[in-house]
Amino acid sequence: MRPLLIAHCRQLLTLRGPCGPRRGRQLRELGIILDGAVLIREGRIEAVGPTRRVERHPLARRAEKFDARDYVVLPGFVDSHTHLVFPSSRADEYEQRLAGATYEQIARRGGGILSTVVKLRRASPDALLNQARGWLAEFAAHGTTTLEAKSGYGLDLKSEIKILEVLRRLNREGPLEIVSTFLAAHVVPREYRRRPQAYVDLLVRRMIPTVASRGLAEFCDVFCDRGAFTPAQARLILTAARVCGLEPRLHAEQLARTGGARLAAQLHAVSVDHLERVNRDDIRRLARANTISTLLPGAVFHLGKSTYAPARALIDAGAAVALASDFNPGTSPTVSMPMILSLACAQMRMTPAEAIAAATLNGAHALRRADHLGSLEPGKQADLCAFELCDYREIPYYFGVNLCRWTLKRGQAIYDATGRFQP
Ligand code: NIG
Ligand code: FE
Repeated sequence: MRPLLIAHCRQLLTLRGPCGPRRGRQLRELGIILDGAVLIREGRIEAVGPTRRVERHPLARRAEKFDARDYVVLPGFVDSHTHLVFPSSRADEYEQRLAGATYEQIARRGGGILSTVVKLRRASPDALLNQARGWLAEFAAHGTTTLEAKSGYGLDLKSEIKILEVLRRLNREGPLEIVSTFLAAHVVPREYRRRPQAYVDLLVRRMIPTVASRGLAEFCDVFCDRGAFTPAQARLILTAARVCGLEPRLHAEQLARTGGARLAAQLHAVSVDHLERVNRDDIRRLARANTISTLLPGAVFHLGKSTYAPARALIDAGAAVALASDFNPGTSPTVSMPMILSLACAQMRMTPAEAIAAATLNGAHALRRADHLGSLEPGKQADLCAFELCDYREIPYYFGVNLCRWTLKRGQAIYDATGRFQP
């Protein structure tokens, strides 16, 4: 295939720089090139720089050229927290919440996650696959090129495997890259309500080893919160997972502060997500940890709450902050990373630059894929998205409108509102 030269980008956000996750002031460094160009060969980035320089590259002469003068071009979003596979919306519960019921009250009545579980267990793999495939096209249309996706709506071995196999098929068929996480520790299923410890045992002895031995997931997650799992249970589950080769991540401090953030730092979890209720001590620990602090403002927004995670305090203390959609039917039904950036800026006082770095490079770190994703540098995968804008700050500034115009995955257009990319 001919090389591809994306030239004359109005602003090219390279995110180039040191290889670790961005912390503190580094989170604002986008490595912007005005009138920038990216040269792509075989799905990888060959060269990046000012257009007049990249044009002189020996491969550029025979490259197919795309004039990107109307676009701000950046790495594709790496959405490091989604619950992609679910059978249907929970618009009924949405309405109940608007009338005053809380998320936890609905869950205690057997709604919430458990109502999705009932429907998922009955759904066919093909129905789940088709539904997720439709959402993936929407992710691509909003600039996302890689996403993490969790199981967690099956809660028995057969149904959890059904979800993870759907994810495996979606990842194989492409074009988006999907990273799978095993989340059977989402809540205790109805059949174990009176003996939660027996469910933890089942997870540890049977479910985790089976999922790991079949290579169905790379990470193991626990919803460590009030009404879900305790830090002691999470520790048992994640320790067993690590022995089997599944790296730990956690949902923590969303509904109440239970000590999950502290546990994540102690376990050197890959990421700890939500964090709305962390205290000063948690922030200090996260600032010193390798664990990525992933913030999910979409869930706070959709639940109509006003307590967002303390992004400013986390960033200023030195935590490695990422942003993700948390796409799921209960708390965050959005695929739009641009909307997440708008929320991060308006509600958590992140700067536009910080939000972009958190949604690209630090997202890639949260998935242990920063060696080939998250920035536009020679040798990395050619995953990029383009917004028809004059300035990158307009990505969060305009909200509720999709200004992403094209998205490339491994150098191929997976979304193209311009009709200018070759099929
Ligand atoms: O990340 N908090 C736990 N899990 C999801 C919600 C899942 C659901 O309600 O279906 C979350 O917010
Ligand atoms: Fe989640």
